[in-house]
Amino acid sequence: ETGVYEHFMLKEIDEQPAVIRNIITQYQNDQGQLNIGQHLQGLKIPSRVYIVACGTSYHAGLVGKRLLEQIAHIPTEVHIASEFLYDQPLIEGDPLFIFISQSGETADSRGVLDQIKKQGFRTLTVTNVQGSTLYREADYKLLTHAGPEIAVASTKAYTAQIAVVALLSIYLAEQKGIAGSIDMFQELRTISTAMDTLKDMKDKAKHIVDEYLTDQRSCFFIGRLLDYAVCLEGALKLKEISYIQAEGYAGGELKHGPIALIEDGTPVFVLITDERIAKNIRSNAEEVVSRGAKTCVIAAEGLHEEGDQWVLPRVHPLLTPLVSVIPMQLISYYAALQRGCDVDKPRNLAKSVTVE
Ligand code: M6R
Repeated sequence: ETGVYEHFMLKEIDEQPAVIRNIITQYQNDQGQLNIGQHLQGLKIPSRVYIVACGTSYHAGLVGKRLLEQIAHIPTEVHIASEFLYDQPLIEGDPLFIFISQSGETADSRGVLDQIKKQGFRTLTVTNVQGSTLYREADYKLLTHAGPEIAVASTKAYTAQIAVVALLSIYLAEQKGIAGSIDMFQELRTISTAMDTLKDMKDKAKHIVDEYLTDQRSCFFIGRLLDYAVCLEGALKLKEISYIQAEGYAGGELKHGPIALIEDGTPVFVLITDERIAKNIRSNAEEVVSRGAKTCVIAAEGLHEEGDQWVLPRVHPLLTPLVSVIPMQLISYYAALQRGCDVDKPRNLAKSVTVE
């Protein structure tokens, strides 16, 4: 039931702060400590992690890599399941394979799980669906507790996956005796408050759609580092439901080719949440503006400048995707709505892709 909402997608976008709070409740004991370990009994600290996933879950994996590397100091690779299946990298030692999947039924990911299990490697599934195939067949499982996600375009599953991998990273860091000073539950509470603010900025999203995307056939999302990972997700969201061709690009790569596509009025969404590269991405934005692009800057508080269109609340630097994705989800939603697209059931797509 969509209730007061016209579409599941908008309902699911709005549920995100509550999902983050639910994840905190699920993985915190009465003493306020992380209890994720009860789902990971007997798990030895891996020397390396391979994350395998598709689509939006793959994009969550790109963020997960940074969390595992920077919090738990475990080298992590992220792979697209359908590529890994036929091009398995050389695997050394005793790694852990993490499958991220909302549905737990994605055929490409299931194919890799089968392949990896035959080779005797350890597996962990992060999924939203208890009892799904990937849930049942992995050695370890963590639920994302996001509640059913109905819209084909994944929204709350993405943020939930990142939050759960963040808690997993803290657990692994604790096990290694290197837990730093991050109070992840506190950081996630801050995130849920920031999400509350952002999800209510629907008029801003509509205004941006009217101003930047009306009658446009293509656009760019540019960012660097974690912002780049979120740009890939923003571009996927926009293209799958509004059918506007959207490219997520690393800011520094534009001059190596795609800048040739910039014309008068080409919309370019610029994401800036990392102080270290704020200057660099601003100069990438200037490069496209001087070739006629119309930039819409989404920037974190403190890094914003006059003329930026959307200012994001400041959160922990490793968790910025949890907030920066929300404007992109809303912009995609209103762009699809403006075009009269079938928001919850875009053409050619299924909620869970059970064929290879
Ligand atoms: O159920 P899964 O997370 O394994 O699904 C993976 C992709 O098919 C899925 O994320 C897809 O990309 C979504 N439609 C994106 O919104």
